[in-house]
Amino acid sequence: MSVTKASLPMLNPTGSPQEGEVDTLQGKCFKIICSESPAKFYCCCGVIMVLTVAVVALSVVLSATKTEQILIKNTYAACPRNWIGFGNKCFYFSEYTSNWTFAQAFCMAQEAQLARFDNEEELNFLMRLKANFDCWIGLHRESSQHAWKWTDNTEYNNMIPIRGEERYAYLNNNGISSNRIYSQRMWICSKLDSYSLHCQTPFIPSWHLPRDAF
Ligand SMILES: *[C@@H]1O[C@H](CO)[C@@H](O)[C@H](O)[C@H]1NC(C)=O
Repeated sequence: MSVTKASLPMLNPTGSPQEGEVDTLQGKCFKIICSESPAKFYCCCGVIMVLTVAVVALSVVLSATKTEQILIKNTYAACPRNWIGFGNKCFYFSEYTSNWTFAQAFCMAQEAQLARFDNEEELNFLMRLKANFDCWIGLHRESSQHAWKWTDNTEYNNMIPIRGEERYAYLNNNGISSNRIYSQRMWICSKLDSYSLHCQTPFIPSWHLPRDAF
């Protein structure tokens, strides 16, 4: 360690230390009690103190880095900018209207899907935030004879019924209705927040995750 080397010349005030001397002096440092002169004793103590301080400083820096990483995880949004977190999901409310296909493509470009709700709280949240707009969500079906499905093709559990005979679902002030793919609506995207995405895999402390996992 550079600390040791830097301190060594002091041990040999008459000249530069020889390689052999370095070894014997280090040996003596571990036998402080047997030290021959007070000067060497204090010098060894000095070296040990410097090393101790270095180790303590290093561990402080390391633990600060860990704390910072945890802090980043907790303060850095679980959701992207301009998305709204609710439960374990992030939601995006569109600024303009479009057809269902375009809306879904927009969401997918944000690594999301047209909105999915998995419980009544989420549905109520969407109803509240959509205000008076009609908004496309991620439910569709092959025909009025088929079951409603989410964008990942899992079946809708009919938590609340969907009105109409069309194939694409949207939220309105009365609940959920259906319309044709080309009609123009606002839309809502959703995705799991960044914590929940990580929690789907067995827990790995954040400082072991690759940088781009965030
Ligand atoms: C949806 O909108 C996009 C962009 O405006 C348009 O290119 C596309 O043809 C539309 N698709 C349908 C099915 O209406």
